Parts: sequence; structure tokens; C-alpha cells
Amino acid sequence: MACGFRRSIACQLSKVLDLPPESLIKSISAVPVSKKEEVADFQLSVDSLLENNNDRLRQDIQVQATRLAEKLKCDTVVSEISTGQGTVNFKINRELLTKTVLQQVMEDGSKYGLKSELFSGLPPKKVVVEFSSPNVAKRFHVGHLRSTIIGNFIANLKEALGHQVTRINYLGDWGMQFGLLGTGFQLFGYEEKLQSNPLQHLFEVYVQVNKEAADDKSIAELAHEFFQRLELGDTQALALWQKFRALSIEEYVRIYKRLGVHFDEYSGESFYREKSQEVLQLLDSKGLLQKTIKGTAVVDLSRNGDPSICTVRRSDGTSLYATRDLAAAIDRMDKYNFDTMIYVTDKGQKRHFQQVFQILQMMGYDWAERCRHVPFGVVQGMKTRRGDVTFLEDVLNEIQLRMLQNMAFTKTTRELESPRETAERVGLAALIIQDFRGLLLSDYQFSWDRALQSRGDTGVFLQYTHARLHSLEETFGCGYLNDFNPACLQEPQSVLILQHLLRFDEVLYRSSQDLQPRHIVSYLLTLSHLAAVAHKTLHVKDSPPEVAGARLHLFRAVRSVLASGMKLLGITPVCRM
Ligand code: ARG
Repeated sequence: MACGFRRSIACQLSKVLDLPPESLIKSISAVPVSKKEEVADFQLSVDSLLENNNDRLRQDIQVQATRLAEKLKCDTVVSEISTGQGTVNFKINRELLTKTVLQQVMEDGSKYGLKSELFSGLPPKKVVVEFSSPNVAKRFHVGHLRSTIIGNFIANLKEALGHQVTRINYLGDWGMQFGLLGTGFQLFGYEEKLQSNPLQHLFEVYVQVNKEAADDKSIAELAHEFFQRLELGDTQALALWQKFRALSIEEYVRIYKRLGVHFDEYSGESFYREKSQEVLQLLDSKGLLQKTIKGTAVVDLSRNGDPSICTVRRSDGTSLYATRDLAAAIDRMDKYNFDTMIYVTDKGQKRHFQQVFQILQMMGYDWAERCRHVPFGVVQGMKTRRGDVTFLEDVLNEIQLRMLQNMAFTKTTRELESPRETAERVGLAALIIQDFRGLLLSDYQFSWDRALQSRGDTGVFLQYTHARLHSLEETFGCGYLNDFNPACLQEPQSVLILQHLLRFDEVLYRSSQDLQPRHIVSYLLTLSHLAAVAHKTLHVKDSPPEVAGARLHLFRAVRSVLASGMKLLGITPVCRM
């Protein structure tokens, strides 16, 4: 077992250091592969060992590393022990490495890396991930797209790690915009258009009514009245609102499906109209609500002389965004009893969530510390042929179109059964990889050309690698399934791949700690580059059967890990392109 090596090294170390093996496992890591030089398979960082425990060892680290290495012996697993900068390095018996890694990949399939001891002892948790959360009738902007793919990734990862995940889409389905929309629809809406293309039509109505309301005070008044009726629970007004909401969700579901995203719950701000009032009462009873001369109510969040307030009630008694978020958090705690709740939005909402979490804390909800905001940066310049992004569907259509054009140049495309679907999958991979390459918090400039390049570090390259490996398997079959001769996989290109496969669990572990997809992205890109080199040099065709069989095993393992990693990121691997 790939990570069994780590345990086996830890066991030997534990005797020498007189520490339990469990405490050592996380100090042992697989060494990242390097193009320039051959590297050992595992290393123990002596420094990290000292931090944990032994002060008496806190002398010169290099001396310690050397001394430690001298006390260790090679055995059936470890074939070489050396030292590096502050590390003790271990080389695993080559054939054992080959056999174990490949067998483990085959056996664990999509669970490879996730069954690692790095994750053992982590009890399954209840995790709520709230993401996407567009606003009905308003523009679906790039921020919503980012929230969608990032939230989906986090949910996938948590699920893969065995947690019980609830995916919530918290729609912006309440507020003055529905006053405007209701009024606008009565003035210039069309039932047929609403039915056939709800998102488009509602958006048009919304844009138009906004324009008119700016010039015509009476329209603004009508809108205000309409919203008041909604707030008071007027059945007619609510019925219209309900229709807008339901039709929009139907369409969302269809479009999210193209993205490969689903939700367990379509919630929304509207759910918390009444519960917000309860929250206000609760705040009041706890003495946290302060009324202002303007008639609004606020919660004072000043800390250490840092003045800060959060408005939670308008002068007309209605709730605000923050009030509804308080109500929603409390409600979700009641409903799901979550261990963690993650909100995925752009960094502009950082302060909002800080305030919400702080108020929950002040209300005496200790579980506020289980809430976490995952902020991300701004994407500039994502435009479609129609202009700025207005709908998610525009982005998807653009991806499809551009990818189809690129693919038209290759001859294999003509043989594809469903070129559109393939184009969309490849294009989505490109979009996701471009987005996930950096820190989520950084802003970046979007470029279709860069994202869609077929060479280099792109999603297209990952898809291409996957398709190529798939066709290799198809052409040569995998008739050698359970048995192969590890002695046939000792070229440097093979060893590099094996060493890289050895690291997958650590990469997953890192992403699970900081919720950043970039570790997995760069891992998969490296894997694909290594596979490309191996594919060029380690021929299957015209090799003796034993060699061909072993190589097929290697390539199959690469494809399997590539596919699992891509799926975690929210990419559907293609088998042909
Ligand atoms: N609908 C909001 C927006 O578009 C995002 C909602 C984020 N989630 C939340 N619980 N506030 O900005």
C-alpha cells in the first residue's frame, strides 16, 4: 500500500526515537519528483519532529539528521537511507514500490489516496456547503460562476472523504427586486415568454422596470407597494412571486446539470422572512438590539475600540440581508446539526460573514465557530460574444462554441458521437483549471485563448491526456489485469510516475486542510506531463508482451488517478476528443 510505506518507516523510526508511530506519520512525506535529479521516495523532516516533541534533540538539525540516519537500517521495504537538508531520506525497494503502488491504485479505484492513513482517525462529519446562490431575475455574474465551481469542488472533496454533505443553493429570492419585478411583469411581461424562457424574460422585465422607475416616480411607488404586499403575505402577490421562483429554479436545475452540479436544497432568502422577525425579537430579549433615531435597529459589534455596527432592521420593520443570514444559520443548525458550515462567496462579502458569525456568537451560539466563509477573488474580462456574462448558460454556450471550433481542426473530432457534449466537457475543464490554478483569493484576468490552449497547463491538456490513455487501453486491452512484472517498470520515466502516484494522498490532504484546489490541479498537470513523456518513450506497441503488459498497467493507473482527481475538481473526463 502506497501509504503503508509511510507506516512502515514510522514503525522503524518509532523504535529509535521512542515515539508512537502515529505521531511520526505526518512528518514523513513523499518527495516531489524533479526533472533534474533522481529523488528519494520519502523524507522525514527532522525539524517537524522537533517541533512536536523532543527538546533534547533541538541541536543542530543536520547533525541530528545524520545521527538518526545512522541508527536506521535498511530492510525489506527500505533499500537506501540517506540525508538531505534537515531530512532523512528513504528509498523504497524498487520492485516493491512498483507492485504496491499499482496494485493499490487498481484496488482502491476512485478511492485511491482517500483511504490513506493520513485521513484515518477522522470521524465523518456533517458538512453544509452553501454555494452558487444567484439572485432571481438579476444577472448571473462571474462571481456566481466561481462560487458554483468552487463550492462544488469543496462539496465533492468533503464527500469523497466520507463526510455527509448537504449542498445548499441560497437564492436571492426576496427583497425590493421582487417589488420591481412584480410591478414590471404586470406592466410589460408576457406569460408565454415567461414560460418558455423564464430567466431571460425576467431579466428583461427587470432591466426595463428599473429604467422606467428611475424616470417615473409612480412606478417606483407601485414597486414599493408590491413588495409591501409580499411582505404582508398577500396571496395574489405571493402567487406571482412563487411562479417566478419556481420557473427560475426549473431552469437553473437544467443548466447546473450541464455543469455537472446539483443541490440537495434550493433555499433562499424568502424562507426567512418570518424567522427574521424571531431573530430580531431574540436579539432584543438578549439586549443586543439598539434602535437608532432613524428608526432602524442595529447590533453594536465594536471590539477593542474598533467601532462597528450591523443594521438588522429597516425603519419599516423589514429584515435585511444580514438578518436573513442569521435566521438561515440558526435554522440550518436546527435542521442539520452540522459540524461545519461553509459559505462560498466573493471576498466582497467577507465583512458581512464576519459580522453574521460574530452576532451568532454574541447570541450565545457557540457553534458559530463551526461556520466558515471561503472567499474568492474577482475575475476580470470574462466576456462572451453577446457581451458581458448575463446568464450561466451564456458561458456554457460560449465554451461549447469555442471548443467546437478548436476541435474542428482535428480529424478525430469528425468521428465523435456527440461532439457538442465533448466540446462542452473539454471547455469546462479548461475553465475550471484556469480558475483553480491560483489561490482562490487572488483576482485574475480571464482569457479564453489561454484557457483553451491544447498544450501547456490547461484543462484541455488534462482531457487530452485522459482521452489518449483511454484509447491506449482500448487499443491494447488490459488482458494482463492482475499480473504484471514489476521488473519491467524500472526506467526513470516509470519510476517518476510511481513516485508521483505515491504523493496523491498528501495532495488531497493539503487541499482538504486549506480547501484550495490548486494543489490537486498542479498535481494532475504534473501527472499529465509525466504521462506524456512516458507515452512517447515507453511504447506498448511492438514491445514484448511482458513489457507491454506492465506498461499498460502503469498507464491504466495514471488514467485512474487522473480521472479521480478531475472528478473531484468537478470535471467529467472524456474518453475521446
Ligand atoms: N445571493 C447573494 C449574492 O448574489 C449571495 C448569497 C451568499 N450567501 C449568503 N448566505 N449570504 O450576492
